[in-house]
Amino acid sequence: MATDRSLLRRAGAAAGAAVGGVAAYDLLQRQHAILRNFPLLGHLRFLLESFGPELRQYIVTSNDEERPFSRDQRRWVYASAKRQVNTFGFGTDNDLENADGLVVLRHTPFPAAAAAEGTPGGRPDYPLAAGKVLGAAHGRRHAFRPASIVNVSGMSYGSLSRVAVEALNRGAEEAGCLQNTGEGGLAPAHRHGGELVYQIGTGYFGCRDEAGSFSLERLKATISDVPVRALEVKLSQGAKPGLGGLLPAPKVTEEIARIRGVPAHRDCASPAGHSAFSNVEELVEFVERLAAATGLPVGIKSAVGDLGFWQGLADRMAATGGGPDFVTIDGGEGGTGAAPLSFSDHVALPFKLGFAAVYPIFARAGLAEDVVFIGAGRLGFPDEAIFALALGCDMVNVGREAMLSIGCIQAMRCHTGRCPTGVATQSPWLMRGLDPTLKSARAASYLVSLRGEMLALGRACGVRHPALIDPDRVEMVNAGFRSLPLRDVFGYEPDWPLMSPARRAEIEGLVGPPAPRPGPGPGAGEHAGFPHVGDPDAEHMDVRSARDRLTGAG
Ligand SMILES: Cc1cc2nc3c(=O)[nH]c(=O)nc-3n(C[C@H](O)[C@H](O)[C@H](O)COP(=O)(O)O)c2cc1C
Ligand code: SF4
Repeated sequence: MATDRSLLRRAGAAAGAAVGGVAAYDLLQRQHAILRNFPLLGHLRFLLESFGPELRQYIVTSNDEERPFSRDQRRWVYASAKRQVNTFGFGTDNDLENADGLVVLRHTPFPAAAAAEGTPGGRPDYPLAAGKVLGAAHGRRHAFRPASIVNVSGMSYGSLSRVAVEALNRGAEEAGCLQNTGEGGLAPAHRHGGELVYQIGTGYFGCRDEAGSFSLERLKATISDVPVRALEVKLSQGAKPGLGGLLPAPKVTEEIARIRGVPAHRDCASPAGHSAFSNVEELVEFVERLAAATGLPVGIKSAVGDLGFWQGLADRMAATGGGPDFVTIDGGEGGTGAAPLSFSDHVALPFKLGFAAVYPIFARAGLAEDVVFIGAGRLGFPDEAIFALALGCDMVNVGREAMLSIGCIQAMRCHTGRCPTGVATQSPWLMRGLDPTLKSARAASYLVSLRGEMLALGRACGVRHPALIDPDRVEMVNAGFRSLPLRDVFGYEPDWPLMSPARRAEIEGLVGPPAPRPGPGPGAGEHAGFPHVGDPDAEHMDVRSARDRLTGAG
């Protein structure tokens, strides 16, 4: 009896030591924010994720049901962020015959050749420059061609944590793309090498005087020693158009209060509209004032509601020869740190409808070749990004997809300050889980993989730069076997989006020479159209076992 008890005690002690060991490992490792923030408990998530496909055969939702991002989309981002070969098995699980709004590309039997390794468009980093020069049409002193067609969308310091902003800034540098600061001002976390687009919101954080009005002097001082390449005046954002910003009290720390110039630990709301201008004429003048004072390209960001505004803007730009160098259109499906449900759900058009309503206005005003168009609103996937390009976008911005790449699990608690992964919180304990150096590599890999797969889709459609995909190759399939080309769905004229022969030639020159066609084997990955295949360091998605996942490996 005594021996039994001592055996039990020893077994209990061994189990306790094992649990303690795992907990200590969880706390010390840096790969997984969830395990670091929730030692032991966090393993359940990996286990459930591992058995998810089997469980879902019997219960709950399909791989494509969840919103804002389906399980398949999230898996694609997570795998891309790990630079894995992100292929899915057994074919599509979408009901293609009953899908509504399914984007389909008409491929060619003669795919274009991939760029040689180490050249623009080639592996390992798939550099893919934008087809237009930002600020060229208005002769801005610091006009430049963005090195990446995909860039990080504005997400304010405060709504995102210090470590998340740092991870995205470092990741942007590694992937050779731009990071938009969002409207929360410029923080030390933005100073890790990544080039920036500085956003000017209605609160003028980082560029306001004592009375809260816009101050050009403060703006110049704020951006003087950081690599700011462009300025963006935010008129509205898809998730809460017609509203100002709101940073809930739990997120307004002393540091954020200092950067924004507001009281700490109190809700920080910024006004719905700008005080520096109140109509189209004044907006154009404001843009010109900023551009003249800084030499930088200046753009606007807006969701699409009243089309009269866009017509007025295009008319004014055509009449004066001035105005924004770029226009960022945010879809109503866009994200935010916090917004009323009625605004998120019912104000502003979704991206595709909104953009397709605005582009024709600029095209008819003769401005479409001069303005750089940027799209945002769940465009961080190769098919969606290609669709945006086919509608006339020159670049896409990715917000929440970039958050997913650094560990966001779509818990949708961003507004509470209790984000479990350290991405959208100011809690030092929760932030501790997110290692900015490790996660920056994930952000960079995601951005690189997205460009790689956009290139692959372009080649499948016969072109070497995805901006050259003929819109006639893009179709929207609806339930009941109804399928319409993009032009018919959106009423586009035959030559839209406009592209002069000179610009077409310029874009063709943005991709390096084709690599010699290799025989089958590891070297043929690019020609076969699979980004990262053949890279000895790239493993295939989903090959890790349940045990690996339980231990949090990978
Ligand atoms: C946490 C969070 C904070 C954001 N902050 C800003 C902001 O400061 N300024 C802005 O213009 N948009 C902001 N956005 C909107 C994004 O920049 C983007 O336009 C929108 O989420 C659509 O892109 P996505 O679908 O790739 O996320 C924010 C979005 C999120 C999720
Ligand atoms: S994990 Fe949840 S709370 Fe954190 S950023 Fe993602 S959606 Fe927001």
